Amino acid sequence: MLIRLDKYLADMGVGTRSEVKSYIRKGLVLVDDLVVKKPEQKIDSDKQVVVCKGSRVAYEAFEYWMLNKPAGVVSATEDLRDRTVLDLLKGYGRKDLFPVGRLDKDTEGLLLLTNDGGLAHELLSPKKHVDKVYFARIDGVVSLEDVESFARGVVIDEEFTALPASLRILEVDREQGVSEIEVTIHEGKFHQVKRMFEAVGKKVVYLKRLSMGCLELDESLSLGEFRRLTDREIEALKAGSYNQPMQ
Ligand code: URA
Repeated sequence: MLIRLDKYLADMGVGTRSEVKSYIRKGLVLVDDLVVKKPEQKIDSDKQVVVCKGSRVAYEAFEYWMLNKPAGVVSATEDLRDRTVLDLLKGYGRKDLFPVGRLDKDTEGLLLLTNDGGLAHELLSPKKHVDKVYFARIDGVVSLEDVESFARGVVIDEEFTALPASLRILEVDREQGVSEIEVTIHEGKFHQVKRMFEAVGKKVVYLKRLSMGCLELDESLSLGEFRRLTDREIEALKAGSYNQPMQ
């Protein structure tokens, strides 16, 4: 791909467009071992080697990051009031990353960030039914009746009946009246898990996403930490067999 040298460097997070222009004009940037002083010079990002201030800068058109989202940040690229998931990645990654779908402000766990609009579209497409697995703590005693209701498809309101979902009871404390569950849903409507429990008379008090399709939360990431997806994870997502566990 042919791309301007200043855009190449700015896309890769070397600096702002004006910062990288100044590096280029000062002779701090080499292309194939030769100093290039014109920010507008076109570079072949697949073939040429770019070095800025002594470090190689490889070009990646798409980036894929996994974030263990903490509560208190919003799944948006910018927000006037709240910190966003993009603020957490500040200084890392491309400027055009966006979250693939939304987790509520108080939900934790797996969030994929990318600038690959095609993949995001596939993963979010209602037709693809990409599985999303959540762990939740529930105020209420979750029963086998609830498991059956979820399996049939919970009626949320006149306009929306959830697709059949698989509900697994992990623990029930009858004295305290609380439960821990895992639920797998195949769509991603607004507040979906919370609304499904509300519909059976219970309240989600803690929610964490564990997986999205074949992509699982890396439990070694603490809340607020992030890492690039591995090549294997990217390949599995792109292969389109979203709900198959990774080999
Ligand atoms: N369902 C919800 O209710 N909230 C989320 O953040 C994700 C799924």
